[in-house]
Amino acid sequence: MLIADALDDRDHEWAPPFDPRRHLPRPGTVAGLVRDNLSVAGHLIGDKVGSLDPPTVDDLAAGDGGIVDVDGVKAAAFRQDDGTLVLRSATCTHLGCQVAWNGEASTWDCPCHGSRFDREGSVLAGPATRPLGPLADGGPGVPGS
Ligand code: FES
Repeated sequence: MLIADALDDRDHEWAPPFDPRRHLPRPGTVAGLVRDNLSVAGHLIGDKVGSLDPPTVDDLAAGDGGIVDVDGVKAAAFRQDDGTLVLRSATCTHLGCQVAWNGEASTWDCPCHGSRFDREGSVLAGPATRPLGPLADGGPGVPGS
């Protein structure tokens, strides 16, 4: 429907979220460029700092995901229905923002440029091209419980 309307040069109410230019500043607006980059910078810095009392893996029920603290390392944690815990780096492989759990879609979404990863960290949508990595050296890796 979107493509047909685009070819006929008609507006469609669902088009804006699918517009590949949706993250670009509007033409001629330096303010838009500054605002967007401040937003990315805010996520790069603010999300890394996080809350003073982050959740732990024990807080995750089956089917839930979230950013958790594992031995002082922020991790993207997902608990499978059988209780198995999947831990990945919470750092987006595009430019390093922290991903966030999207409970509606059960995906890891990056707030900076829109990359999306599945529950196990594989890329669903770019601009990232590499999956979420293992936890940093010295981290606990990917335990099975
Ligand atoms: S940092 Fe660009 S999509 Fe995540």
